[in-house]
Parts: sequence; C-alpha cells; structure tokens
Amino acid sequence: MRRPLVCGNWKLNGSIGRTGELIDAVSSGAASLPGVDIAVCPVFVHLPVACERAAGTALAVGVQDVSDQVGGAFTGEVAAAMVAEIGARFAIVGHSERRARHGETDGGVAAKFMAARASGVTPILCVGETLSERDAGETLAVVTRQLDAVLEAAGVTGFGDGAIAYEPVWAIGTGRTATPEQAQEVHAALRGRLAEQDPALAARARVVYGGSMKGANAAELMAMPDIDGGLIGGASLDAEEFLAIARAAAAA
Ligand code: 13P
Repeated sequence: MRRPLVCGNWKLNGSIGRTGELIDAVSSGAASLPGVDIAVCPVFVHLPVACERAAGTALAVGVQDVSDQVGGAFTGEVAAAMVAEIGARFAIVGHSERRARHGETDGGVAAKFMAARASGVTPILCVGETLSERDAGETLAVVTRQLDAVLEAAGVTGFGDGAIAYEPVWAIGTGRTATPEQAQEVHAALRGRLAEQDPALAARARVVYGGSMKGANAAELMAMPDIDGGLIGGASLDAEEFLAIARAAAAA
C-alpha cells in the first residue's frame, strides 16, 4: 500500500503574508490526516517563511523547480542543496509550464531530477501530453519518453524515492480534468514502465495526477488503483479545497 502524496503547486502566486496564512491553515488540517504526505510548493523567495511556519507540523514544503547544477556561474538558478538547507523536502521537476516557457528538455529535466536526489530532496517528475499529442494517439509514447529520460540517466537506484506526476497539459488550469479512466490508463502504463526495470520500484513509486483536480473530483480519481495522490495548482491556493483533496486521498 503506497502512502498517498498530495502536493500543492502554488505557481507564481502569493505574498509573504498570504504564504504564512495558507501554511497555517493547511498545516492545521494536515494534522488530522496522518496517513497522507501533504506538501506545498511556494515560490523560492517565500520558501524561508513557508519552512519556518511549517516547521514541527505535518505539512512539508517543496519547490517548483531546481537547478541541475550544484553551484558556480549559473545566474538566476537555485541549487538543491540550498533549498534542502532551508527545509524543502520536495522539488517539482519538468513541469509542462517550464518545458514550454523555458525550453526544458527531457535530458535537462533528468539532470534536475538527479540533482534533487543527490541533495536528499524528493523529486516529483512531471510528465504529460498536449491536446494535439493526445488527439494523435501519442499520449503513452510521450509520457514514456519523458520517464525513460530519467530512468536512463538516473538508473533504477537513482530513481530512489522519486515520484511521478501525470499532468495532461490540456487539463492544467482549464477546468477540464482527465476522466479517472483516462488517467488510470496512463498511470498504469507509467508504473508498467517502472516494472520493466524493477518491480519493487514500480510497487513503491507514487504516481500522482495533476490537472484541474479539486475537492469535487478528487475521490473518483484517487479511487483508481494506480493514482496515488495529486499535484494541485489552482485548488491548492484555497486551504479548504486543498484539504478536501487530501481527505479524499486519505479515504481512498
Ligand atoms: P491546476 O490544478 O490549476 O489545473 O494545475 C495543475 C498543475 O499544473 C499542478 O502542477
């Protein structure tokens, strides 16, 4: 039985004040959900206040991206060891918004995945197809290619405690959620790919869903055998809505 992971991706939102309020509200709700890993990922500059407010609570804090480098002449980047020192436990890597806007490649994302792991930060690898790729019947080929880049670079041992987030690009911020069956098909394929490398890894790795997840649709998604939680954007900015998703994960 995998422990569910429910992670909020706050994207480019918030302020120092709002971060503190939201951390307090989510962490008090998380206290009554001991069976679920609950995390939120604010912007880098809010990481110190988020970690300070979440310290000693059941809520973990993560980051939305991380450098593939450990240090040196890399203007604007933030290294995994630096966020780990502040208290971040998770790092989202390869989000489709970064792949699209910042030209992140499968290989570059794999390097970020490994950099996070090397600093003891759990990477959450985002994979997902665009609408045109889905319409062309390429969904499984796309997500498999994105996962394979990490498996090839990191190897089975390097994958470690990493998680995967299946986020169909067409479902992100659109209000259009994948059906539980559509998501399950992809999650099962991803787990199957892991199983080809290492059945134990496949059995333990968490594959979470992201894309217009909210309190009202979380339970039916979480009921699927290969959906182990969620990576939540918009709904994670509302403590009650986010906690409703975490409760659905706890009940699944
Ligand atoms: P929404 O929940 O806003 O669709 O965003 C999903 C997402 O991109 C999480 O990383």
